[in-house]
Amino acid sequence: MSSGPFAQFPAYRPRRLRQSKVLRRLVSEHRLSVDQLVLPMFARSGRRVRRPINSMPGVFQLSPDELVRDAAKAHSLGVPAVLLFGIPDTKDAKASGAFAKNGIVQQAVRLLKMELPELYVITDVCLCEYMEHGHCGIVQRTASGAEILNDPTLKLLARTAASHAEAGADMVAPSDMMDGRVAAIRAELDRLGLINTPIMSYAAKFASAFYGPFREAAESAPKFGDRRSYQMDAANANEAMREVALDIQEGCDIVMVKPALAYLDLIYRVKQEFRYPTAAYSVSAEHSMIKAAGAKGWIDERAVTLESLLAMRRAGADILITYAAADVAKWLKE
Ligand code: PBG
Repeated sequence: MSSGPFAQFPAYRPRRLRQSKVLRRLVSEHRLSVDQLVLPMFARSGRRVRRPINSMPGVFQLSPDELVRDAAKAHSLGVPAVLLFGIPDTKDAKASGAFAKNGIVQQAVRLLKMELPELYVITDVCLCEYMEHGHCGIVQRTASGAEILNDPTLKLLARTAASHAEAGADMVAPSDMMDGRVAAIRAELDRLGLINTPIMSYAAKFASAFYGPFREAAESAPKFGDRRSYQMDAANANEAMREVALDIQEGCDIVMVKPALAYLDLIYRVKQEFRYPTAAYSVSAEHSMIKAAGAKGWIDERAVTLESLLAMRRAGADILITYAAADVAKWLKE
């Protein structure tokens, strides 16, 4: 921040530059652009399936054919990328569906890349949707409860990421929060010759109540306990910086802060400190809160959505992952 010299009132009147729309645009410091948007989508098996998600108005679980249809619509509005989640038909204790050659994400990726080759397809790499217990790693029962095992989980994550990339995913995005997963995934991708597949790491991902609606959408709520032994404590900012540093050292290409709106301080600090491409994930409850209040007529859904995303840009985010991506693309055109 430059510390002056500043003219003083009445020589300096900040309102002077706010007097016309043109002038306001000329001096505007940050902008939202459709180029920055990523639309998260949920794939499930079947044909012609569009299952509404009760807690996320306007968001659906979609069979691959319907997913292609919605992705095409968003893409035609200018949304460059989607982020895929999968809801498998069956779950087990080793998340087989996550890395199955014909798993739901793998199917959806293949179809998307066939039908919409220009659309950039990112896949969420995690195991919770595929595990019968709903945790993001392998669970070992202990006398006092259960432990989520870190190191044995890495192999499954690496396998999952590789199977997504082999199906045609343009980028993989690990969201599990196991230690060392970026290095494990990078090594596996490289071993397979997939050297140009970037990793967007959910680097600073917090154990957050803002994921509530998502767990209905992805049918991934943990059957026991919570995610606090692997996702971050909302109280910790310095630790988030260490998490991001670690993922960068392990070879990730893009770092993410998640959730976004309640963690703008970290978007700012991460961008300032690392100057890496930085993504903000405006998570399910951020979306649902705006939708709910908008539906009640208490807030202006469009204005609040755009202002929230602009705040993420101001904090330093390059990439905005938002369930409102298609709406935002439309609004930006108008
Ligand atoms: C999977 C995953 C979650 C989200 C993204 N990937 C849920 C969780 O960690 O429980 C949340 C996204 C959202 O709330 O929109 N681990």
